[in-house]
Amino acid sequence: MTSVIPRADARAGLEEIYRRRTPRSEQAMERARRYMVRGITRGWGYHRPYPIVGARGEGPYLFDLDGNRYVDLVNNGLSLIHGHAFPPVVAALKAAVERGSGWLVASEEQIDFAQLLCERIEVFERVRFTNSGTESGMLAMKVARAFTGRQAVLKAIDGFHGSFDDLEVGLYDRPEIPGRVYLAPFGDAEAFERKLAEHGDEIAAVVLEPLMFSGLVTTAPPGFLQRVQEAARRAGALFVLDDCLMLRLAYGGSAERYSLDPDLTFLGKFIGGGLPMGVLGGRSEIMEVLDPHRPEPLYHGGSFNGNLLSSVAGRVSLEHFTAETITAMDARAGSLRAALVAEADALGLPLSVVGDGSVLGAYVTDTLERHDGNTFNAGEPTQLLHLAALTHGVLMGPGGEIALSSVTAGKALDSAHEGLIRALQDVSRLCTIE
Ligand SMILES: Cc1ncc(COP(=O)(O)O)c(C=O)c1O
Repeated sequence: MTSVIPRADARAGLEEIYRRRTPRSEQAMERARRYMVRGITRGWGYHRPYPIVGARGEGPYLFDLDGNRYVDLVNNGLSLIHGHAFPPVVAALKAAVERGSGWLVASEEQIDFAQLLCERIEVFERVRFTNSGTESGMLAMKVARAFTGRQAVLKAIDGFHGSFDDLEVGLYDRPEIPGRVYLAPFGDAEAFERKLAEHGDEIAAVVLEPLMFSGLVTTAPPGFLQRVQEAARRAGALFVLDDCLMLRLAYGGSAERYSLDPDLTFLGKFIGGGLPMGVLGGRSEIMEVLDPHRPEPLYHGGSFNGNLLSSVAGRVSLEHFTAETITAMDARAGSLRAALVAEADALGLPLSVVGDGSVLGAYVTDTLERHDGNTFNAGEPTQLLHLAALTHGVLMGPGGEIALSSVTAGKALDSAHEGLIRALQDVSRLCTIE
């Protein structure tokens, strides 16, 4: 194991450069702190000394209040698959907004989008719209509980599925809640099988993200996902796929990519074309617990579910997300990964780059582990890489997260390569490697 030890003044020096580039962001964040705790309104994205404040986005770039341009490699938490202000979505939204934003009853646009989703994603026979990944995960759990008549859920330790209490068990060292939420380590099929053998008759659903992205990107070992799916079936539990992020891995989503056949799948993030939207989809036999014609239907409301604007943006965005687009994005991410690894090798800096398709986690370490039981702490050398990247015009996640959009290409991709390589050089200068 190689240790990367930041020099005593490493952070202070980098923060000084960062502050000099971003005085307006600093001022705006001071104002923000007067009204919002630490000046923020979502968990992911915060970092010391303060995050930049965005002024506008354009394709692969985000501009801050000081006019600095960043190649955006996080795209609003992976929710902009075609980058910022994607022209076909902007045009469709302009046309739609003249007619309002949403109403109680359906719109043809909502039905069009539901049709597209069911035609495109093989395991979708019926869908229900929500407004976020968190909401669609909550709905998945409710539907699974109503369908099976069981109450418990089995999920992966450190598996992130949004901000619903039950699905936060296993994060931040939160222990199992017997009868309600059971845990097993991601990648350990036997552990999942054991939990299902012990508690199978209580478990309504086994929920997995096929590749864990948040905190530490973790890919599944071969056969793991299939074994868990089979064990869930044997126990009479539903196999639920969280494809909020990983729908991007194939035309039909990660079920297609990894040959899975989930009973329910939930979506969020880029499915709304940049606007808030979530989707729960699956076999009609299961989704029918929501049917108001049933004697005791499962009630699910939501004022903005399937609203006009999100339906339009989501449909247009998904129509442009073709198989060719996915192949090109994946290849670009592969070349970025290879360039980072080559530069780190040349510098003698340990760097682990993990991921699949267009998503990567880049960590300044040769030991992949979660830090201090904190799901989202990537370790100081990786945090320095993030800060250094900002000073070179690249916005990656504060925990080393990288995800390309379909427009992270050409000059923008070149700038991302250059900026990240310069950031790696900074980190190697600012740290002692032992
Ligand atoms: C895998 C996964 N599922 C669900 C969610 C929740 O989505 P949202 O932020 O839209 O509530 C996230 C958010 O990051 C996620 O990464």
